[in-house]
Amino acid sequence: MEYLEIAKSKLQTLRALDNYYILAIESSCDETAVAITRNTEIVASVISSQIDIHKRFGGVVPEIASRNHILAIDNLVKEAFKKANLTFNDISVIAVTYGAGLLGALLVGVAYAKALAYALQLPLIAINHVKSHVFANFIAHKDLQMPFMCLLVSGGHTEILEVKSYHDIEILGSTLDDAVGEAFDKVARVLGFSYPGGPEIEKHAKLGKNCISLPRAFKGEKHFNFSYSGLKTAVLNYVNTLKLKGQDIPYNDIACSFQTEAVAVLVEKAIRACKKNNYNKLCIAGGVAANGYLRNELDKAGKKHNIEIIAPPKYLCTDNAAMVGVAGYFAIKEGIGASDLYQDADARA
Ligand code: KG4
Ligand code: ZN
Repeated sequence: MEYLEIAKSKLQTLRALDNYYILAIESSCDETAVAITRNTEIVASVISSQIDIHKRFGGVVPEIASRNHILAIDNLVKEAFKKANLTFNDISVIAVTYGAGLLGALLVGVAYAKALAYALQLPLIAINHVKSHVFANFIAHKDLQMPFMCLLVSGGHTEILEVKSYHDIEILGSTLDDAVGEAFDKVARVLGFSYPGGPEIEKHAKLGKNCISLPRAFKGEKHFNFSYSGLKTAVLNYVNTLKLKGQDIPYNDIACSFQTEAVAVLVEKAIRACKKNNYNKLCIAGGVAANGYLRNELDKAGKKHNIEIIAPPKYLCTDNAAMVGVAGYFAIKEGIGASDLYQDADARA
């Protein structure tokens, strides 16, 4: 039998099963990550972060990211198996992030997963990175049921999603320009903070005051789209004007004012989307969901409007492979097809 026939038939038998092991691989940006999961359980999860490598450039350099994924991936897979105390023979399926992300970086994970799937004659499933962030919520919230609303906030995406199933996720609103994480990173760079900017802004914001007035896009409008480029540019202009005048730059106040405004828009729209669509459950996902101020503000708004706020633990908000494995488990139940050996990476998936 051809590889794909074998893969399809093995995947078919898994659809009705539970308690099988998934090997999950994620390499969409600057984290190489491997996990072994079972249902919504993490059996092992390992991450090799490239943050220190990219720090000196102030952001991720795609070519360098790809090369470092190549260096890391094989050892990481070995480490995951060691931690799980399992072998290749215990795995039933391989799940890999195929997009969205940096093309060269994604290709490393996809090529590795294809080769391993073929060698082991195991089915391969291609998982969407954005969706996998959403499914991180199931790891710590075992009784979570779809449908729910989700505020997805990462370095590449800012979306309000109605999550009905893995295959049926409706985008109610999204950013028309910069993602909120991208805005955090760019503002941090202007302020001279190190990469990644999100956690740095959060740290400095705690020391500052919300005393600088910044613009809000789409004020008063009823839709759920976002725009962060105006806010980012306003901060940039503010800093440049002070620099031209030779005045001190109030870094902490700028960080606090920016974070307050960036988060206020997210909270307002996500809560309004829940109310409009009659949802009393809101999940959050993506790297920016690790932001403590956002989590607090959402909790406050949730209490006020009777909406339960559900969030993954902070370490599962940023990129990891456990979420890929768990998304894979749901995708298999819903009938995702086995990938063939032509499976490609897709930067814009
Ligand atoms: O989900 P993620 O790890 O990768 C993408 O899929 O993009 O998100 C990375 C983004 C970066 O922009 C980073 O600055 C932001 O998440 N981020 C944060 C925090 N931790 C990470 N933003 C605000 N506050 C944080 N604590
Ligand atoms: Zn991500």
